[in-house]
Amino acid sequence: MTKERSSFTNQLGFVLAAAGSAVGLGNIWRFPYLAAKYGGGIFLLVYIILAVTFGFALMITEIAIGRKTGLSAIEAYKALDKRFAFVGILGTIVPVIIFPYYCVIGGWVVKYFVAYLAGQGAMAAGGDYFSGFIAQAGSPVLWLAIFMVLTSLVVMCGVQKGVEKASRIMMPVLVVLAVVIVIFVLTMPGAWEGVKYYITPSFSDFSVTTVLAAMGQLFYSMSLAMGIMITYGSYMKKEDNLEKSVGQIEIFDTGIALLAGLMIVPAVFVFSGGDKEALSAGPGLMFITLPKVFDTMPFGHFVGGIFFLLVLFAALTSAISLMETIVSILQDKLHWNRITTCLVVLVGGFLIGLLSALGYSVWDNVKILGMQMLDFFDFISNSVLMPIVALFTSIFVGWILKTKVISDEVKISSKFHREKLFHVVIRYIAPVFLIAILVSSVLSAFGWIKI
Ligand code: PHE
Repeated sequence: MTKERSSFTNQLGFVLAAAGSAVGLGNIWRFPYLAAKYGGGIFLLVYIILAVTFGFALMITEIAIGRKTGLSAIEAYKALDKRFAFVGILGTIVPVIIFPYYCVIGGWVVKYFVAYLAGQGAMAAGGDYFSGFIAQAGSPVLWLAIFMVLTSLVVMCGVQKGVEKASRIMMPVLVVLAVVIVIFVLTMPGAWEGVKYYITPSFSDFSVTTVLAAMGQLFYSMSLAMGIMITYGSYMKKEDNLEKSVGQIEIFDTGIALLAGLMIVPAVFVFSGGDKEALSAGPGLMFITLPKVFDTMPFGHFVGGIFFLLVLFAALTSAISLMETIVSILQDKLHWNRITTCLVVLVGGFLIGLLSALGYSVWDNVKILGMQMLDFFDFISNSVLMPIVALFTSIFVGWILKTKVISDEVKISSKFHREKLFHVVIRYIAPVFLIAILVSSVLSAFGWIKI
């Protein structure tokens, strides 16, 4: 007997849940520093162009595959063409790798939020606060557990009452918090210099790597090539407008990334007296530099608290989508009930998460390709598996299945305005670009080229 599949209540519910997945740590922490590093305005321009072409084509493909088959990744590819079931399997490995370490970082965020709530903003700005924290064995594991349990509680409640409801509450609040912080930052003296630096295109910083970096970021940011959008598409109603939804998700995702840049770049700029190096601090930016910035701002500890709440919401809705995708795949395959499946994923995810959570303390000498466990998981999923999955997806849809199948699905609910663009991107442009990303990221991991 087949049970009827769960669904989101309506188009808005779908868009908010998908945007909840897309808007995450990538938008708030990674996007601003990439923009600062790769030429400011020129990076923004390249990113936006890629988002409305490449990102659009891949996202609409995945959501349409999900809605058409009503299945999550593995079963969906199998249903379309048995020979391509392996794409679904590869795509499923990605969230399984990302979920545990994403929750480790989510745990760090909860820890910082609680620290600001407890009035420890000045402590968080201390030089060794972050390194001291992750070098402990117990504390990061505890925060990982807290973040994972929070995520699981939402997923256990199901698609409508859990995933959708959480997104309906958290996403609008997130937008308001982002706007509040931006206004706050922009009223600081000297902030406009930072804004200028953020949006002025610097052509001398432009190169092929700008495009590759923007493209890599795009994938991650839009939660593509990991089965998430297929799963969410499978919960979308046939009468909801697919093309319009994708447009709205893109606007949401890119809008929050741009806002994050507007809060972080000028704030760090003022703090460091215009020193651009401070922005390229990479991962340390959010947990080391920003607390110092907040510490010097008027009402900074309050702003810091709001900021980490914003990041927490962004991280939670993304982690929820990762877990929902894994749960949905297991349920489609094994027909377990939701609670049991969630508990299994929670325990399994926690155990794998330990590898990353303890990677800076007990296991800090364990390295693969010279990378810490967390960095290695990040590299293998984002730089290797995701481009491979996207490459096979575009070859499969463009040349084997044919783009008409996707177009027909889109047209069930509306006209397909960007059909031509979608066709050309999936069939010709995406495969070439994806091979370029894949080759360059692998070469740079082995230190043969520098990105
Ligand atoms: N899209 C999320 C972000 O920008 C990241 C993410 C990746 C979320 C994978 C879920 C799955 O941070």
